Amino acid sequence: MAPETIEMVQESFKKVVPIAGAAADIFYLRLFEIAPEVRPMFPENMVKQKGKLMQMLGTAVQNLHRLEEVLPAIQELGAKHIDYGVKDTHYDAVGSALLYTLEKGLGDDWTPELKSSWTEVYTALATIMKGAAAARQAAA
Ligand code: HEM
Repeated sequence: MAPETIEMVQESFKKVVPIAGAAADIFYLRLFEIAPEVRPMFPENMVKQKGKLMQMLGTAVQNLHRLEEVLPAIQELGAKHIDYGVKDTHYDAVGSALLYTLEKGLGDDWTPELKSSWTEVYTALATIMKGAAAARQAAA
């Protein structure tokens, strides 16, 4: 991943942090609108889950320059998602809800370059998670 891509994503995430609560609200509203079939996978009360998502995204974004060091944690997270009932196709819905959230949250700061940088970052994370899930299922 190019250093400029990493820097762009990290800088933009700093602007999301102060509005993390609202961003999480937008994200799940959008996700459940475009992929209602995933709603039952989540708890009725989403308060904790909302915090987890933003925290995890923050950790991932901070560690983009040394992704290989956090690779085992991302792989483990991917494998764990099998137990939630998550399928490969759901990653597209989550990615789309994430980009939508960033677009709404960042307003004028949301540029085509930033969109492609975030797409690259999300795709990298999702690819690692899906790969780990497939490996776990093949081993089972
Ligand atoms: C890059 C993509 C993703 C990241 C970084 C991510 C991150 C996380 C994290 C950190 C947790 C909490 C794990 C724990 O409590 O130990 C979690 C839980 C969960 N995730 Fe994901 N996730 C991703 C993709 C997805 C997708 C595609 C779905 C499908 C709808 C999904 C559905 C869930 C569900 C259902 C839970 C459990 C909710 C609960 O019972 O609290 N995630 N995710």
